[in-house]
Amino acid sequence: MCGIVGYVGARSAQDVVIEGLRRMEYRGYDSAGIALVADGTLAVDKRAGKLANLEKAIDERALPASTIGIGHTRWATHGAPTDVNAHPHLGSHGRLAVVHNGIIENFAALRDRIEDEGITVVSETDTEIAAHLLELQLESGEDLTTAMQRVCSRLEGAFTLVAVDAQDPDRVVAARRNSPLVVGLGEGENFLGSDVAAFIEHTREALELGQDQVVTITREGVEVTGFDGSPAEGKQYHVDWDLSAAEKDGHDWFMRKEIFEQPRAVADSLLGRMGADGLLQLDEVRLSDDELRDIDKIIIIACGTSFYAGMVAKYAIEHWCRIPVEVELASEFRYRDPILNYSTLVVAISQSGETADTLQAIRHARVQKSKVLAICNTNGSTIPRESDAVIYTHAGPEIGVASTKGFLTQLVACYLLALYLAQVKGTRYGDEIHQIVRQLEAMPAHIQDVLDRADEVYALAREYVDATSVLFLGRHAGYPVALEGALKLKELAYLHAEGFAAGELKHGPIALVDEGLPVLCVVPSRGRDQLHDKMVSGIQEVRARGARTLCLAEVGDTAIEPYADVLFRLPKVPTLLQPLVATVPLQLFACELATAKGHDVDQPRNLAKSVTVE
Ligand code: G6P
Repeated sequence: MCGIVGYVGARSAQDVVIEGLRRMEYRGYDSAGIALVADGTLAVDKRAGKLANLEKAIDERALPASTIGIGHTRWATHGAPTDVNAHPHLGSHGRLAVVHNGIIENFAALRDRIEDEGITVVSETDTEIAAHLLELQLESGEDLTTAMQRVCSRLEGAFTLVAVDAQDPDRVVAARRNSPLVVGLGEGENFLGSDVAAFIEHTREALELGQDQVVTITREGVEVTGFDGSPAEGKQYHVDWDLSAAEKDGHDWFMRKEIFEQPRAVADSLLGRMGADGLLQLDEVRLSDDELRDIDKIIIIACGTSFYAGMVAKYAIEHWCRIPVEVELASEFRYRDPILNYSTLVVAISQSGETADTLQAIRHARVQKSKVLAICNTNGSTIPRESDAVIYTHAGPEIGVASTKGFLTQLVACYLLALYLAQVKGTRYGDEIHQIVRQLEAMPAHIQDVLDRADEVYALAREYVDATSVLFLGRHAGYPVALEGALKLKELAYLHAEGFAAGELKHGPIALVDEGLPVLCVVPSRGRDQLHDKMVSGIQEVRARGARTLCLAEVGDTAIEPYADVLFRLPKVPTLLQPLVATVPLQLFACELATAKGHDVDQPRNLAKSVTVE
């Protein structure tokens, strides 16, 4: 997830672009860059690190005056956050500059073709490939709009591209496929941005684009086409948010925005995982297949929400790979003298990649000669740097302290890891792996279905503003979901909340149940009938003692109806994948309850997003 800005008009493009990037910095801040068209050439500057580094560089070495330009603030996906990898990227003759958000999945094949043409690729990014392809089209005599149409037709994956041509000082051309881009409509000027915050101080008239569309902005107007050049139309709308709401895409909290981003985040997390050979691939692997085949035990270490993702991973890995898995709190791990050797794989899950407890745990594991694989959302952070293999979750920056899209994408990464190990060890057939990948690919739509009914959850949450205690029950993969639901409520609403494995309830915690106590129950999908029926029994037990049962159960599950005081329907998905949909109402519940209580949802008291002390 990166921030993109484009401008053509009468103002200083440098000012408009830098201001837009400042508004986009929440989308990523690994590096920033700008390209302006001035006197038939491109003026470019780009720097690793925050936008402030770029601004300082421009202060020291001014860019020429210009009224047309593009800019980018990066959340690294391909290649480390360095000056060279920063956007914009240029064609080899410096005529074309492009910025990009997303992942071009077929970039390796395209790079080979570009190198065959004698062009040297200087960065590690997929974006540079698009720059060369666009410049080649321009040099064959096409205008930038046609060049963009041609090139986009050859790209696979998800992307927003915004480009300028040094020889055309009148147009900025952009394209989108499954990645955000909006047009800001002005008088004698027009804007492009990843979202409206990029230009909200200049205009509130915006144009929404469809998938697979190319848009050309000039001072006089805006033209939209399909990738095939056929005329198309965007949908014009008026933005009535203020600036701070605009940064949050109209939501009151970053957390709520991030909850609603989850369909996109999960889809991004799945992008580019299947190689041309039909085999799954990780982001970075410094382990051979032979080393992975020798793995006979896995220990997952993590903290907080990431720990619960690890608990879900245990169910998936043991079931699909038949490798024993332990899940351990990172802070406890090295102090108990764990039994580790070269055939133990330690999996460290961390959104930030900087959590000190987790970092110390992997250092201990490596000293004991174990292999370490990181599941992380932050490219280039310490934990992945010190690991032997990495799966990045590609959720984009998470601003809300309480993790939401970070968690769901960690789940995706855990499923992918389980399938990858099954592939390497041969514990599942290729077609079985493909079938589960297809089920994962269907999840963004299922998550969206839950989000579309957020109002049902909000109304329920507001009923409990004065609650003093809430219990959460789950079984199997629903057990970590119950724990995560309770954690969210503790973090945000500061109220006593506990998650239990439903079967364990009768062994003690049931004593907590009295009249009217809200108990949120995650009911397993029905494919596993024994599991489902046992869960229903647990629900009956608490209800018989006066609890108010708030049940999450899949559509068509009628067995639960007599025992649910409130029923929220989940889409029908396999039990192992159910956490991807069942967690979402619990996030919405906590967010809304905390909002109703007047709490700061994005920055709850006493917490920090990244805890770098043990
Ligand atoms: C902090 C945050 C939690 C997070 C945990 C682990 O305690 O407040 O929301 O789950 O750290 O963070 P990590 O970045 O390692 O996933």
